[in-house]
Amino acid sequence: MEKPLWWQRGLIYQVYPRSFQDTDGDGVGDLSGIAGRLDYLVTLGIDALWLSPIQPSPMADFGYDISDYCNVDPLFGTLADFDRLLADAHARGLRLILDFVPNHTSERHPWFVESRRSRDDARRDWYIWRPPGPDGGPPNNWLSRFGGSAWERDEATGDYYLHSFLKQQPDLNWRNPAVRSAMMDALRFWLDRGVDGFRMDVLWVLIKDDQFRDNPVNPAWKSGDPLHDQFIDLYTADRPEVQDIVAGMRSVIDGYPGDRVMIGEIYLPVDRLVAYYGTALHGAQLPFNFQLINAKWDAATIADIVRKYEAALPAGAWPNWVLGNHDQPRIASRVGSVQARVAAMLLLTLRGTPTLYYGDEIGMRNGTIPPELVQDPAEKIQPGIGLGRDPQRTPMQWDASPGAGFTVGRPWLPIDPIATLENVAAMSRDPGSIWTLHHALIALRRDTTALSIGALQEVEADGSVLRFSRVEGSQRLLILLNMGDAPRKVAPGPATILLSTYLDRAQEPVDTVTLRPGEGLVLEAG
Ligand code: GLC
Repeated sequence: MEKPLWWQRGLIYQVYPRSFQDTDGDGVGDLSGIAGRLDYLVTLGIDALWLSPIQPSPMADFGYDISDYCNVDPLFGTLADFDRLLADAHARGLRLILDFVPNHTSERHPWFVESRRSRDDARRDWYIWRPPGPDGGPPNNWLSRFGGSAWERDEATGDYYLHSFLKQQPDLNWRNPAVRSAMMDALRFWLDRGVDGFRMDVLWVLIKDDQFRDNPVNPAWKSGDPLHDQFIDLYTADRPEVQDIVAGMRSVIDGYPGDRVMIGEIYLPVDRLVAYYGTALHGAQLPFNFQLINAKWDAATIADIVRKYEAALPAGAWPNWVLGNHDQPRIASRVGSVQARVAAMLLLTLRGTPTLYYGDEIGMRNGTIPPELVQDPAEKIQPGIGLGRDPQRTPMQWDASPGAGFTVGRPWLPIDPIATLENVAAMSRDPGSIWTLHHALIALRRDTTALSIGALQEVEADGSVLRFSRVEGSQRLLILLNMGDAPRKVAPGPATILLSTYLDRAQEPVDTVTLRPGEGLVLEAG
């Protein structure tokens, strides 16, 4: 390939700022805390950090409800703290990516405060307002992604406003050119300060049907499923007009030097997902590929996912892979601690930019949150059906101290008691830990061109073993992942083991090899 860009070679690390490092003792992480951990991120070997939202917010959805796009919430610090963090990151060769939340603001954003005042307010059309439906109720059947109608009646005028998420998160009207230009200015505000890119929140949801047609009933929905899934998102997501907005954002970002990157949060089937690379690749450079998150954990399923994704990529599009994020159960809880190592090897040896969720490098699991400590509105609205996201947002486990090195105060979510044993300090000293495995995989990926940018070939499932090759010039690496719990003998031909998920057989020459249960190997052929 042509000279690869940093975000093609690199590894992205997601920081959930509330849970990474507290420095002022309020039990919530902050920007100074992140700055104090940059050397750790350098040691781990990452290239870029993406911060979940840090802008001022009433925190109804923990920062995804923004009341000022161009500032920092005092909980996290100040703009000066941000500038310092960015400079400190750049001084270490780290890039910094911000979350951007274009679909909705907080209800307390001054734009919405004005918009809801009267029907003829200058900002009325900045949000999506409709008169009541024929029966006096909501204008149509659209549902909030958190459950319940997506429409909220507003006392001031009797009209309803649209909220695809919480009622505290009114949807912006992206069909209004004034909204577009204000949001592009918000992007420029951060680009001018030097950020290296954005992760765009719910990018596929920005535009809704302009005729406000009812969504069709989902025949597969059954009682106990998320309420939102009662209808199919035909008129509320992935509308064709969204592509023009995506391209508009990209062109603002491309107006700045330094190969800045646009990542899109998009939950869609692959054939629709790849549309977000845009016509002539003028869309998002990295439309997040979440397929591994919901995949059945077996070799045949994963082989199929990888092959179909690679085949669906438009010419020149760069792939990416994700195992978890702040909305999804932890990988170590989904597949267990043995397979979590296989998952790490998969993420870091596939072709494409990997994004690592904070704490996955130490195998953090879903925390247990007693009912009285639940924070997430998703759990409060529909309790007990597994929608709550607090378990994957528990504080980073830095050391064995009472606050796990995260805080000296009372943490906003409980620290997993396992932190006394499983923490960065202990695991980075342990030559057999999952932390050490991540560290070794990241180093191997960085130092081996075939792994970082090489072609992907021969993706196959052989019983419980997933195998594929990464090739660059004369270098051929073979990856073998035993996704089962029985040993499996394989014959890769003459090769040298570079790394095992068990971390105990580097530089071993082999011709045939028995993979232990849940063992993954990277081998160099020849
Ligand atoms: C995205 C975020 C999620 C948030 C939602 C609404 O999906 O990742 O955390 O609740 O958008 O902003």
